[in-house]
Amino acid sequence: MDKFRITGGRALSGRINVSGAKNSALPCMAAALLTGESVTLHNVPYVRDIITQRRLLEDLGSHVLTPELRTHKITAAHIELFEAPYDLVKTMRASVLVLGPLLARFGKAKVSLPGGCAIGSRPIDLHLESLKQLGAEVSLEAGYVVARAPRGGRLVGATVNFDKVTVTGTENLLMAATLAAGTTTLNNAACEPEVADLAELLNRMGARVRGAGTPHITIEGVETLGAAEHTIIPDRIETGTFLVAAAITNGELELKDCMPEHSAAVIAKLREAGVEIEEVNQSTLHVRRAGGGLRASDITTEPYPHFPTDMQAQYMTLMTQAAGRSRITETIFENRFMHASEMQRMGARIAIDGRTATVEGPARLAGARVQASDLRASASLVLAGLVAEGETIIERVYHIDRGYEKIEDKLRRVGAQIERLRDSVTSSLPPITEVGVL
Ligand code: UD1
Repeated sequence: MDKFRITGGRALSGRINVSGAKNSALPCMAAALLTGESVTLHNVPYVRDIITQRRLLEDLGSHVLTPELRTHKITAAHIELFEAPYDLVKTMRASVLVLGPLLARFGKAKVSLPGGCAIGSRPIDLHLESLKQLGAEVSLEAGYVVARAPRGGRLVGATVNFDKVTVTGTENLLMAATLAAGTTTLNNAACEPEVADLAELLNRMGARVRGAGTPHITIEGVETLGAAEHTIIPDRIETGTFLVAAAITNGELELKDCMPEHSAAVIAKLREAGVEIEEVNQSTLHVRRAGGGLRASDITTEPYPHFPTDMQAQYMTLMTQAAGRSRITETIFENRFMHASEMQRMGARIAIDGRTATVEGPARLAGARVQASDLRASASLVLAGLVAEGETIIERVYHIDRGYEKIEDKLRRVGAQIERLRDSVTSSLPPITEVGVL
């Protein structure tokens, strides 16, 4: 397994291009299953989860061409399998996103139940309950969810009230409802930009979706969907991670190809903590630490447009360097503080009480051997390594490869001393093999 070796203490300086959003590309790829015609996606990040999703689509029978590294042309003309197997779902929960489209187009789907993951139990009961409201018959067979459309083979539009905001649940329903008979209304839908991005692709494919990006989405079902081309939005979590990287190293960065409006809550909080962020234009941010140093400031994670849980770990690293006591409350996942104990080993002063972490800063961090436990936790440890004295070795960086495109290259280009120690047996990110022509 690859590792990162980081020597801390360098201020970052320069320009970073933000990649496309993994959490938008994943549902958009699944949406290609809704049509037999080709769906072409641009600005797809080159990260492990995308390769996994591509493999799943291919296993189902789709043909995927990659004319350029970040463009995928997916044609699901001849689907032969209707199943997301355990081996894939256990490595990437987002593979449950094929459930809605398979059920909508073919009237059947089988998806392994994801089980627990590092950050909590993460059930998919809300996906299943709401699909039932569209007429699906859902049963559990040997660890798999087996779903069938009602007699006649087509889902039926309905009003769905989500008990809790769920991002992939909203996306699954959104996709399922596009081909249902009649109109579907989703209430208490997730408002995340990735949901709106998916809706934009679906509308390009001929769907009739209104209200995506708000808690109330209306979908008028259509008979078929067709070809479309779409560019994935920038990754707001990668954007936030680099904002923190600049601030924590007392550096200065220009972030290009981002979408500042999607990072509004993070930007507001960082400004409160003493980070100077200028919106240069609609796709560029300029960031540096303000003269007064970093100040402690509390956060509570909540669904969009509030502070994202996917930025909680990185923000915690920042708070280890801020003057004063900050409280970080995690309301989305029950077990998302695993990075805290690794940071403590580097000298951070963090106390966990249930869903709240109290951070005392500033603390002098010292390089250590630490272990990444999940995707965003690994990003927080990279940030800690950038500011720590001496050498930090981060193990299990395959977690970070799931969602950050070549983070070590991007950081090295702006002055970080970071290198990947390759494990020749299980090295990360295999090349995308089939490069074809559009
Ligand atoms: C998505 C994101 C993930 C992010 C999370 C919250 C993708 C691929 N992943 O994950 O990066 O951290 O949103 O912003 O987009 N829940 C249930 N039952 C369900 C579904 C969810 O109880 O059927 C609970 C979850 O356990 C969690 C909360 O609802 O406590 C929110 O989860 P959800 O929004 O569904 O997260 P994901 O879509 O899995």
